[in-house]
Amino acid sequence: MTEFDLVSLQAELKDKKPRAILKAAFEHFDNIAISFSGAEDVVVIDLALNFRKDIQVFTLDTGRLHPETYQFIETVRKHYQIDIDVLSPDKNSLDAFVKQKGLFSFYDDGHSECCGIRKVEPLRNKLSQVDAWITGQRKDQSLATRSQLTEVELDTPFSSNAKPLIKFNPLLNWTSSQVWDHIEAYQVPFNDLHSRGYISIGCEPCTRAVLPNQHERTGRWWWEAEGKKECGLHAENLNPS
Ligand code: ADX
Ligand code: SF4
Repeated sequence: MTEFDLVSLQAELKDKKPRAILKAAFEHFDNIAISFSGAEDVVVIDLALNFRKDIQVFTLDTGRLHPETYQFIETVRKHYQIDIDVLSPDKNSLDAFVKQKGLFSFYDDGHSECCGIRKVEPLRNKLSQVDAWITGQRKDQSLATRSQLTEVELDTPFSSNAKPLIKFNPLLNWTSSQVWDHIEAYQVPFNDLHSRGYISIGCEPCTRAVLPNQHERTGRWWWEAEGKKECGLHAENLNPS
């Protein structure tokens, strides 16, 4: 996709609904993958199956997920009868990191090194094999880092001159209530942890339940500042163009 094509697609999709954004994503790209981890992503899968049966879905298995999250991945696989690529970190990098810094270094010096090895590098490897990807990000998940999201964008941190990577965010304008309305209306499976006060769910040591009326990302990397709560999957959110 040329820069010109991207600009016109951005204009065409501006303020469009999730279904229209997904439809365009599949019309423009054959080799496109859905990234799956949370409630939003299953809604994306649920909608995407209206347009294509052989969707590519992947999840980053950091090795530190809750048991409920592993169950949830399996439930989604069976419910939709889809293949899910469960991607692991590079063994050598992980072994060296854990040997040197232990299993909980993120509480002392921040999450970026651990997320880099357990999430970002496996993602980089996966994204090098596709032309575009789809996320479940929403603007109101974070005023600090996600309010500038667009329907479709050039994923600069994972692009090169030789291989641009396009990223679609079909749920960007949805609220959490809209996501949960869809889950209820269409009987979409969800992670059991949501019934125990968890809203935004990542790795077990870096996620906790939130109190009523607390913002959903309060429970993620709670020891870190608001503007740092991106793990590198969406690095462009820290420096939107
Ligand atoms: S994070 O950057 O803070 O971890 P968040 O949990 O809000 O991200 O999820 C935002 C989007 O990133 C998800 O909708 C999904 O597209 C993608 N994502 C996050 N974690 C994973 C994961 N473990 N595997 C695959 N995709 C993920
Ligand atoms: Fe490591 Fe926590 Fe990042 Fe998971 S969320 S990869 S445990 S720092």
